[in-house]
Amino acid sequence: MKPLKYHIPKLLVVLLSLISIVWNACSLKPVPNFAKDIAPIIHSKCSPCHHKNGTAPFSLMTYNDVSKRAKMVAFVTAKAYMPPWPADHNYSHFLNERVLSDFEKEQIQNWFKNKCPKGDLSALKYPNFENNLSSLGKPDLILSFQDIEIFNDNKDRFYVLKLPYQMNQERYVRALEFIPGQYQYAHHVNGHYLRFSDESNPFSGLMKTDIESANYSKEFMEMNLVNADGSIPFRVHSAVNYLPGAYGVKYPKGIGGFLMGKKGAFVANDFHFGPSRKHLIDSSKIYVYFSDQAPQRATYELMMGTNGVSEITPALIVQANTISKHVSKLTIYNDISILTVNPHMHLIGKSVKAYALKPNGDTLKLISIPKWQFRWQYFYTYQSPQKVPKGSTIVLEAIFDNTLKNPNNPNNPPKTISERFENAGASMRTTDEMLQFIITYMPYQKGDELIDLSKP
Ligand code: HEC
Repeated sequence: MKPLKYHIPKLLVVLLSLISIVWNACSLKPVPNFAKDIAPIIHSKCSPCHHKNGTAPFSLMTYNDVSKRAKMVAFVTAKAYMPPWPADHNYSHFLNERVLSDFEKEQIQNWFKNKCPKGDLSALKYPNFENNLSSLGKPDLILSFQDIEIFNDNKDRFYVLKLPYQMNQERYVRALEFIPGQYQYAHHVNGHYLRFSDESNPFSGLMKTDIESANYSKEFMEMNLVNADGSIPFRVHSAVNYLPGAYGVKYPKGIGGFLMGKKGAFVANDFHFGPSRKHLIDSSKIYVYFSDQAPQRATYELMMGTNGVSEITPALIVQANTISKHVSKLTIYNDISILTVNPHMHLIGKSVKAYALKPNGDTLKLISIPKWQFRWQYFYTYQSPQKVPKGSTIVLEAIFDNTLKNPNNPNNPPKTISERFENAGASMRTTDEMLQFIITYMPYQKGDELIDLSKP
């Protein structure tokens, strides 16, 4: 028999492999299955858009829905292309962030690699998107715009639409949501509210004008947006706005809102339909959510950049085949509490960032979108109001890419793009550029930082 020392290498090998077996057994995660592990992720992070009547082109709800697209689902989640959430969640946080955690992403990958096990499907409960078009739930009142024809000539169109109404009693409005009829083509709406006097007839006059028509001013006058005696009605500017991907915002009771009179109208200013090759009908709606309480804290809007209160430097002209940076700065003269922000650019936007420089030298990070996605332009609401003390400067920085490396460049070869083409009229075509930052705020009050904006 050989002395023990000759056995040591063999023993070591045995020992090492034993350790590795035990190690593997401990770290071997159970294979995720649909019913237990995957469905909860899909139902909370995907199905709100991917359901039968949702905004996404197909449903992701049942095992069959998801398993037949498992490869694509694994791909788009690994790339963070879905769920769509362009804001960098390491820079600042918002309510209802549509992002997957690293663990959730890993679960989806493992499930796919292990050939999509079902688990116990009989125990699975499905979410019900009863009021499936809204992010705010069942509305108290639905108002419908007149049907608008979308032509198949691949041209942008811009309208002003009037949506009159009459109610038996006045009501406080807590939230509004714009529900586009044709999600793929409704590109922008700036919706104002007009409260008419009791003698007025909101239903008189034109309901629609074409902003680019030769007779625009005449048509606009004929919309009859004044009271019976010719006076200007009470007006809420930007009462309900819409951009691709946007969803409604409902603040806690008492914040924001206004009194909706017995007679009035919503006016969708600059309702922009993007180019279409299909002939379609749009019937957009406004969902109204009432409150039994008068608003206690009024909210206001600040708009930086294009058409706004702060200049863009250098001017927003992006030469063909160049990448350029543009900045806009705004000094704040009173303490404010920011509730919601919305950055807006068009097709050659590459990235955008906004922050506030406080008088004490600190920086308050507002939002960063490292990879601009034209398709997803949310109104981002903070988890609690962000105090910006007076004397702060809000800085908006954006980069535009007018080269062919930008797959969304509308021109090939690239052409110089600016805020406005000659004869563009009042509106911006998708192929023009914009840089806007819309800030919804209220004058600061002590304790605002502690308000939880997710609480109804
Ligand atoms: C905010 C709504 C929304 C959410 C949330 C959402 N999607 Fe989507 N998804 C869409 C829309 C809309 C499209 C169609 C493409 C587009 O318009 O950009 C789409 C497209 C897709 C596609 C097809 C991609 C392609 O290139 O054809 C896949 C796959 C997908 N989504 C998977 C998911 C998964 C998985 C989740 C959840 C982890 C998810 N989506 C969450 C709206 C959403």
